[in-house]
Amino acid sequence: MTSVSWRVPAKINLSLAVGPRRPDGYHDLSTVFHAISLADVVTASTPTAPDADPSLTIVEATGAERAVDLAAVPLDRSNLAVRAAQMLAAHAGRRPSVDLHVSKAIPVAGGLAGGSADAAGALLACNDLWNLGLSTADLCRLAADLGSDVPFAVVGGTALGAGRGEVLEPLPARGRWHWVLIAGVGGLSTPTVYRRLDELRATGQAPPPRDRFGPPSTLIAALADGDVSAVADALDNDLQAAAFDLAPSLAATVDAGRAAGLSAGLVSGSGPTCVFLASNAEQARTAAAVLERDGFAGRVMIATGSHAPHRLR
Ligand code: C5P
Repeated sequence: MTSVSWRVPAKINLSLAVGPRRPDGYHDLSTVFHAISLADVVTASTPTAPDADPSLTIVEATGAERAVDLAAVPLDRSNLAVRAAQMLAAHAGRRPSVDLHVSKAIPVAGGLAGGSADAAGALLACNDLWNLGLSTADLCRLAADLGSDVPFAVVGGTALGAGRGEVLEPLPARGRWHWVLIAGVGGLSTPTVYRRLDELRATGQAPPPRDRFGPPSTLIAALADGDVSAVADALDNDLQAAAFDLAPSLAATVDAGRAAGLSAGLVSGSGPTCVFLASNAEQARTAAAVLERDGFAGRVMIATGSHAPHRLR
């Protein structure tokens, strides 16, 4: 085997409750992750020079619905996919010799865990290329050291996330879910958004963290029932207040989605991508066309959920 490709989905957070800042700088979460059809493809190939360190090429996916800002992606060792290959090789006691190729459709720094998807793709593809035979659970343990969203990117589907997001429990989500996404202009840095939420809370401008937060039972039941309007009512994101504060135009973006007939909208993760739930595929297409025409040209995408990473070849 000389080349392996994995298609790895972006994620959105259907709910995201953020606890107080922990001594290690992270925040405990209670979140519902949902992996969508928007995806990057990561290919791992055997390099011609067998002793080489990982190399990385990133291209924009052909047919991507919107342009991806490739200039914002680091190409050096700080890239999460490169670090994933190095970590997996160290774990397996072998050289990290691999050519990584990422075909990107997921917006960069968009709150959709695109970098985490690429890291998960590198773990999945290198595990196969190098014939390591690591289980999904093993890969998730390594993934947690790469970033809080990487374990979910390895498993996909719909899942409850606890801890800093790395403690996962799969959730049933009946049927197909139809989403419209509006990409933000520029990116928002995740640490900056968390820090701003802490500041807003400290000054009484955002509700305090819930002392004890458990799984969002109304949302979980609505997903299991396939009840679109109940899911729409239960969408929730504690980081949204901080994202609005840092990027005030986002509040109008969320309003525009609702005005285009979509039942509910919110900022995805730390933003700035906004996501909207549609009742069906037809409504998603109609609303996306309205938004494309009225102020969001080149920024609108349609996606379905949920999806899991899968191997292409
Ligand atoms: O885990 P990851 O490297 O993706 O996190 C990036 C940053 O986001 C962290 O350094 C932290 O500032 C913030 N974060 C957080 N709590 C989480 C996840 C991320 O504060 N649960």
